[in-house]
Amino acid sequence: MVVPESQGKMYHPPPDLQRDAHVPDFSSYLTMYKRSLENPEAFWKEVADEFFWKKPATGPMLQYNFDVTKGNVFVKCMEGAKTNMCYNVLDRHVREGNLGDKVAYYWVGNSPEHHSTITYGQLLSHSCRCANVLKEMGVKKGDRVSIYLPMIPELVYTMLACARIGAVHSVVFAGFSSESLCERIMDAQSSVLVTADGVYRGDKLINLKQISDEALEKCREKGSSSVTKCLVIKHQALKTKTGASCLYFESAPLCVQTPWDSERDVWWDEAMSDSPEECEPEWLDAEDPLFILYTSGSTGKPKGVVHTVAGYLLYTFLTFKYVFDHQRHDVYWCTADIGWITGHSYITYGPLANGATSVLFEGVPVHPHVGRFWEIIEKYKVTKFYTAPTAIRLLMKFGQEPVQKYDLSSLRILGTVGEPINPEAWQWYYEVVGQSRCPVVDTFWQTETFCLLIFQTFPFFGVEPTILNEHGEEVEGEAEGYLVFRKPWPGIMRTLYENHERFENTYFKKFPGFYVTGDGSRRDKDGYFWITGRIDDMLNVSGHLLSTAEVEAALTLHPAVSEAAVVSRPHRVKGECLYCFVTLKDSGEFDKKVVDELKRLVREKIGPIATPDFIQNAPALPKTRSGKIMRRILRQIARNEKDLGDLSTLADPKVVEVLFSQRSEAA
Ligand code: PRX
Repeated sequence: MVVPESQGKMYHPPPDLQRDAHVPDFSSYLTMYKRSLENPEAFWKEVADEFFWKKPATGPMLQYNFDVTKGNVFVKCMEGAKTNMCYNVLDRHVREGNLGDKVAYYWVGNSPEHHSTITYGQLLSHSCRCANVLKEMGVKKGDRVSIYLPMIPELVYTMLACARIGAVHSVVFAGFSSESLCERIMDAQSSVLVTADGVYRGDKLINLKQISDEALEKCREKGSSSVTKCLVIKHQALKTKTGASCLYFESAPLCVQTPWDSERDVWWDEAMSDSPEECEPEWLDAEDPLFILYTSGSTGKPKGVVHTVAGYLLYTFLTFKYVFDHQRHDVYWCTADIGWITGHSYITYGPLANGATSVLFEGVPVHPHVGRFWEIIEKYKVTKFYTAPTAIRLLMKFGQEPVQKYDLSSLRILGTVGEPINPEAWQWYYEVVGQSRCPVVDTFWQTETFCLLIFQTFPFFGVEPTILNEHGEEVEGEAEGYLVFRKPWPGIMRTLYENHERFENTYFKKFPGFYVTGDGSRRDKDGYFWITGRIDDMLNVSGHLLSTAEVEAALTLHPAVSEAAVVSRPHRVKGECLYCFVTLKDSGEFDKKVVDELKRLVREKIGPIATPDFIQNAPALPKTRSGKIMRRILRQIARNEKDLGDLSTLADPKVVEVLFSQRSEAA
């Protein structure tokens, strides 16, 4: 096992873990890896043999074109085959594998009082009933269903129900604003929205139904009324003794009735109560879409990343099996939210494809106390634990004592995802949480790549990264530059929803023949890849990708703002945070009121994750003579780095002095 290089040490897994592992050592891994590249047809065929195919493939395991100069970019996996994702992750286990009574999820609510256990048999029956409810609402193969739900079991039932009937789910993180939800519903043209009345995150109530109503109203105002039905779950934490939903508004601490449109809205419990438990799966083409998931785009408009059935199934299954070395008796826990790709791949589909038992956690790491994660690990005897560096950094602040109060001896492997892990956080995770006995697996990937690509700084099966310089030339040996891939793997995205041109322009135009990740990487002398961070206008806040353009667009909606530029600044817990430079119109005065209004605006337009940490008055922005904002300089000002290098391209170098003198340190 390798660790962040500054540590300069090698750590080896304990012998018993190594002995029982699917791949016991690096040389066996290399043999398999080489085979996956040299004979992909045989390699992926073997993986496909694990699953049920209603019709076998007529085409090869993988076909593709990555070169825009030679025609449309495409990837196809197992053309001609017919299958069903839901059947493969549920029925196959229940009917063929006898896993009906095996626990699929231990659900743990925001409040420790709320928890339940869901077996594979129950998951199948709930998913089928939900599939029938959706069918009853008129949802057919290919229709889109937007899901705006917290981390409750119904979220998984609904995803699997869509997969069962061939509907395409579009899960929208339940922390997004009504504006963001509306944008995603409109882009996908969903016919059904599935939501809940509300949810507590920590001790904060989020009125999901109210936000959903606002989103649908916004869509209507913009001329789009695609959603005809809204399926609403009564959250357990909001049920009163009488069974009615109760929403407590800050302004009026009273029980308020859930907003309701009787033509459109349907309570989940009522719809499910008489819905049949049998639902014949829709047999889909291997390349039919499975889901859309929106990710930030550098132009500000989110990109609807489309993933397809067969490729996703193979890749999510295989990555989960090997990267977490999944064993039959494991209890696995990924703390991500299903609203992000990590949750899709490593809470829903990957673990289920492997017949695993997972924890499904609704809450936050510090509620009701800072030992919540460790308490859950002890209670459920979690063996594999996957979280984000931002969570580790947050929990580190409370010291070792809250961790040591609990028995974490069940843990075998730890994972991290979403952003680079700094050596200090790695060390704490390894020593304090893993008690210096659990390997820490760092996994690099993206919404677009679907499942993880590089783990432990080495590529996964079938994945061939390389590094290009500014001129698009491959650089050999030790090198730093653009991280790109020359070939697809089964789980790579196929397109951006209804926008193949943007797909090609974003990922394949810059260097024809390669998928361009947007990340930089360094390859060391041993061939390991070290991600150096984004090299486009994207930011990674607490492991969530945001585009500077979308935040700038929100800021400039304020009537007093004439221009805004957003850059990243390192943050102790979040990794990166937003530092905004704002130029006001002549009449405007930059004061606390404007700053508060701007923060509120960004929260409303995008969601709380995008709340800026710093907003600075910028009487003018540093621009080139052709009017391009020089973000490099803004980044340096935000970080208070005085050595700015060459400023000769600036139209007015004095701007820089003014900006330094007005730096914002107020969080
Ligand atoms: O910049 C990389 C960073 O997160 C980006 C992908 O974000 P998203 O599509 O939201 O998916 C997050 C979950 C996989 C990447 O382009 N990133 C992700 N994992 C790592 C990382 N950067 C460094 N190390 C990682 N392990």
